[in-house]
Amino acid sequence: MTHGAPAMAEDLLVVRGITKRFGPTLALDNVSASFRAGEVHALMGENGAGKSTLGKTIAGLHRPDAGTVTIAGRTLEPGSIDDAFDAGVRIVHQELAQCPNLTVAENLCLHDLPSRFGLVEKRSMCARAERLLADLEPSIDVRAPLGSLSKPRGRSCRSPARWTTAPAGAGRGTARG
Ligand SMILES: Nc1ncnc2c1ncn2[C@@H]1O[C@H](COP(=O)(O)OP(=O)(O)OP(=O)(O)O)[C@@H](O)[C@H]1O
Ligand SMILES: [Mg+2]
Repeated sequence: MTHGAPAMAEDLLVVRGITKRFGPTLALDNVSASFRAGEVHALMGENGAGKSTLGKTIAGLHRPDAGTVTIAGRTLEPGSIDDAFDAGVRIVHQELAQCPNLTVAENLCLHDLPSRFGLVEKRSMCARAERLLADLEPSIDVRAPLGSLSKPRGRSCRSPARWTTAPAGAGRGTARG
């Protein structure tokens, strides 16, 4: 994928010169793009064009071979999921990656389990999970193993889109309680 767009002062998310190789495969070739606050974009391209790779690079799952991702003027640490998460990046993956043996609450909070003295705070975790599901599937028992739910209900327990409303720069745990 190659693209070029000039960055503007009010851009919230700026991707600059991202190149990413997987062995002999050049998935992203010097990709640049910029996005302003409040905009909705669709990234289109044929299978294997590099759409998911770009999303994963912005979210810190891939470390690019070259280029930077900047959010609200701050350049993210390459390949750091935590840094991207703290900057407000949320990604709903194309492929489902869930843990059926864990509870619904654990699946929903897996990235950021509330803990105290090294122990998971189950009550707080369940309360957060219930809040996340309140509008979507309030009847789901967040203490049940995810694998015990029907497939459609299990799909509702992917990282809820509501997470994407966390403002850029929101500290870990603050936006989601
Ligand atoms: N982890 C990986 N290891 C090796 N090659 C990869 C990896 N991830 C992606 N690729 C390759 O990088 C290229 C871009 O893949 P990517 O998944 O980003 O494309 P896509 O646009 O999301 O495709 P699709 O429309 O099928 O979802 C492809 O050639 C793919 O095979
Ligand atoms: Mg894809």
